[in-house]
Amino acid sequence: MRTIIEPFRIKTVEPIKMTTVEERRRLIEAADYNLFTLKSEDVLIDLLTDSGTSAMSTDQWSAMMQGDESYAGSPSYYRFEKAVKDLMPFRHIIPTHQGRAAEHILSSIVAEEAGKGAIVPNNTHFDTTRANFEDVGITALDLVIAEGRDPLADHPFKGNMDLVRLEQLLQEEGARIPMVEITITNNAIGGQPVSMANIRGTKALCEKYGKPLIIDSARFAENAYFIKLREAGYQDKSVKEIVREIFSHADGMTMSAKKDTFSNIGGWLALNDDNWAQQARTRLIMTEGFPTYGGLSGRDMECMAVGLKEIVEEDYLHYRIRSIQYINERLDALGVPVMKPAGGHAVFIDAKAMLPHIPALQYPAQALAVALYIIGGIRTVEIGSLMFGRQTDGSEKPANMELVRMAMPRRVYTQAQADYVVECFEELVGQGVDQVPGLEITWEPSSLRHFMAKLKPVERAENVAAEPLLKAS
Ligand code: F0G
Repeated sequence: MRTIIEPFRIKTVEPIKMTTVEERRRLIEAADYNLFTLKSEDVLIDLLTDSGTSAMSTDQWSAMMQGDESYAGSPSYYRFEKAVKDLMPFRHIIPTHQGRAAEHILSSIVAEEAGKGAIVPNNTHFDTTRANFEDVGITALDLVIAEGRDPLADHPFKGNMDLVRLEQLLQEEGARIPMVEITITNNAIGGQPVSMANIRGTKALCEKYGKPLIIDSARFAENAYFIKLREAGYQDKSVKEIVREIFSHADGMTMSAKKDTFSNIGGWLALNDDNWAQQARTRLIMTEGFPTYGGLSGRDMECMAVGLKEIVEEDYLHYRIRSIQYINERLDALGVPVMKPAGGHAVFIDAKAMLPHIPALQYPAQALAVALYIIGGIRTVEIGSLMFGRQTDGSEKPANMELVRMAMPRRVYTQAQADYVVECFEELVGQGVDQVPGLEITWEPSSLRHFMAKLKPVERAENVAAEPLLKAS
């Protein structure tokens, strides 16, 4: 198979500052072993997130010059609204400064309507989605299919909703459920896609039980491309047609435009229901801004409008999905336990399998993330017990999976940089991963602890503690 080349040329570059293993060992200690605390200039390859980190195109930059910064009725809003409706034909398009602002508005409307004890099921809630629901007293329930909870289970649509469990829940607890949500792709379990059949099936249950279906849509184009590649009947449809069909099954969406519109900031809430939209706009004015800018500048809306056209281009999506598969395949060949099949925006490593000597509550995925930083200056993110372990009642329990996510910014890194990441793993494996120590928390905030927690390496009973955390290469 031919090399998948990047379908763009580079016009502007950002230099990367080189650092040594010794320097990084000091830097991560000073950052309390939390990669969110590092300064980004001390990172060589930043795979912390694919959110807001895309490279914009010449068309996006030039459209930004047309940004109209009027408080009300800006033409930039109308261009943005038209671009959204072209793909997602909802009645009301409400801009927000990012996805979580849309979630915050939606969860507060839903909570007021549903009252105490409400439940919102999702295939898997993303962390801010879960936090926004829990903050208003709603239980955020994850109903992904069993394969989605097993990093190695092979399934073309591991992100799917478990429709049997959803129907059971709707039957038993229907009165407590104000809405049903699907996240595409399913970020928290590996950027795994959801099939059109599953979206249709979820919608059918929602109709049967009279519930609105909302799609958390951050990576909608990647999901649509997987449908084209893997689902019977979609091979000859364009990605644009697939996207339109996905949203035709929903009553609304929340969007983080920091992913699948190549924008550095932005988002929206789209709804069909006039009453919810009215309430949303009132809340928007209180917290984000007037409904034709919602916390954004006119130029941000221009950027999203152009990005929406570029994101459904199939040459781009082919490169995007293939470049992630490439890293996955190479790591797999090294014996690194990667999640299979590869997700749409990131490579996920099963740290429980890679570092079996570290117990879940010594955060093996965070330990691996720290080791990757020290060895190669690569910044990744833990999706495991550090992120999900603290329960609302204050207790701590291991997460279902201990994953390290290497999220690829869009159109940013080259194949040589991807190869460098693979080589760092090669070195780590060569040194023996049993050297990597677990971590303990020395301080944590009351919610969303992974962003700010302070940690330190666990002292080992044997004399290993005296050894430096990984050798210099
Ligand atoms: N929904 C999903 C599925 C997400 O992945 C994110 C953000 C959000 C909602 C919230 O959107 O950041 O614009 O407020 N995910 C980022 C990530 C932060 O790294 O995966 P936001």
